[in-house]
Amino acid sequence: MTPLAIASDHGGFALKEALKQALMQWGIAFEDLGPFDPSSCDYPDYAHLMARVIGQGRFPRGVLICGTGVGMSMAANRHPHIRAAVVSDTYSARMAREHNDANVLCMGERVVGQGLACDILRVFLDTPSDSSDRHARRIAKLSPGEPVE
Ligand code: RB5
Repeated sequence: MTPLAIASDHGGFALKEALKQALMQWGIAFEDLGPFDPSSCDYPDYAHLMARVIGQGRFPRGVLICGTGVGMSMAANRHPHIRAAVVSDTYSARMAREHNDANVLCMGERVVGQGLACDILRVFLDTPSDSSDRHARRIAKLSPGEPVE
């Protein structure tokens, strides 16, 4: 299975292209879901596409880039099987995997530089989730309909 899907809007297009270069250097396979030019487009379209391909089991994890990462995460997190984390530091990237089992990394091209974004992506890819009971219990409570007490 191709391990990673990546997508952006126009506000994240340049960072998407930079991250693709890093992935190629690392020898990590990915599929670019678009866009394929920097024309103006709507970030929810790509967030929903990402949610769809992850839901189909085609990719275990994805990366979504927009200007801030915020809009992408809002749209992606409307899907119950998506745990999207907006991250702009490596500590949060590690915690998002270990504690939250995040399956989508969102970043903002207007927030993080390319070097930091590559480091964040590497941590996101290299960090396993911590499968201990307390984290599994909390993640289960993310699902809509779960009573919050
Ligand atoms: C596009 O200008 C910008 O709004 C978008 O990339 C993103 O930052 C939204 O959250």
